[in-house]
Amino acid sequence: MSESATGEPVNAGAVADSDMGVDPSMLLSLRGVTKHFGAVQALRQVDLDVPAGQVTALVGDNGAGKSTLIKAVAGIWEPSSGTMYWQGKKIDIHTPKEAALLGIATVYQDLALCDNLDIVANMYLGFESTKKHVLDEITMEKRTQQTLKDLSVTTVHSVRQLVASLSGGQRQSVAVARAVMRDAKLVIMDEPTAALGVSQTAQVLALIKTLASRGIGVLVISHNLNDVFEVADRVAVMYLGTLVSSGPVANYTMSSTVELITTGVVSRAA
Ligand SMILES: Nc1ncnc2c1ncn2[C@@H]1O[C@H](COP(=O)(O)OP(=O)(O)O)[C@@H](O)[C@H]1O
Ligand SMILES: [Mg+2]
Repeated sequence: MSESATGEPVNAGAVADSDMGVDPSMLLSLRGVTKHFGAVQALRQVDLDVPAGQVTALVGDNGAGKSTLIKAVAGIWEPSSGTMYWQGKKIDIHTPKEAALLGIATVYQDLALCDNLDIVANMYLGFESTKKHVLDEITMEKRTQQTLKDLSVTTVHSVRQLVASLSGGQRQSVAVARAVMRDAKLVIMDEPTAALGVSQTAQVLALIKTLASRGIGVLVISHNLNDVFEVADRVAVMYLGTLVSSGPVANYTMSSTVELITTGVVSRAA
């Protein structure tokens, strides 16, 4: 769905249409992205724009295609057809490594952290900083502390704590901090608060807002519309593989969003 249809001003800058109508000020743009798994059409002609410095909430019922969409962006599935643009330039993402090199970091529910290692070691997994072939622990520790501080993560007392000892919210914070330390420009999160209690959810939502305020684009899948309305600048709704609506959060109400999620259409203007 085009932005104009959701009431957002059509791109005022004249240069935007140089590449098939993709706005180069967008971090990520998808056009006509389709993904089949055999007979299942998980994504149908998805058009989506994700700006920097904002939180885009991706919502939809189970099976709507949300995870498939982010896996296409993360380089896990190649789309069957369609085009992806990064900062206005056409790109192909074949592997998670290619996504990471562009600056796309995905934080999955399982977080891919090692419980038996401390926070510093997890921050540097596979990217250990070496000084004359010796792991430079002091630098690694300082950068870890600074990154957490920059993200206003204040609940972690020591970066030498084992990840196994952290709460769910703290683990999310470490996974996100790791992405930020590696210069992620877009952080994608799949249901980051699904397993968390109230206060830890608040921590993670605060972290999401901090990321956006630092200019990072955030694309977050959530089932919890309270969370969505608390953090999102933009909303994108998927229904049976189709992106049925997207635009600024001000264009949506709780009830219009529920209607879009459950029926794919909204009966009256929000
Ligand atoms: N690896 C896969 N193989 C076959 N079908 C899949 C695979 N992954 C997802 N699907 C199907 O694609 C559709 C979208 O799934 P998914 O993206 O996981 O939805 P959501 O994350 O919104 O719940 C569903 O019908 C699902 O069964
Ligand atoms: Mg999913």
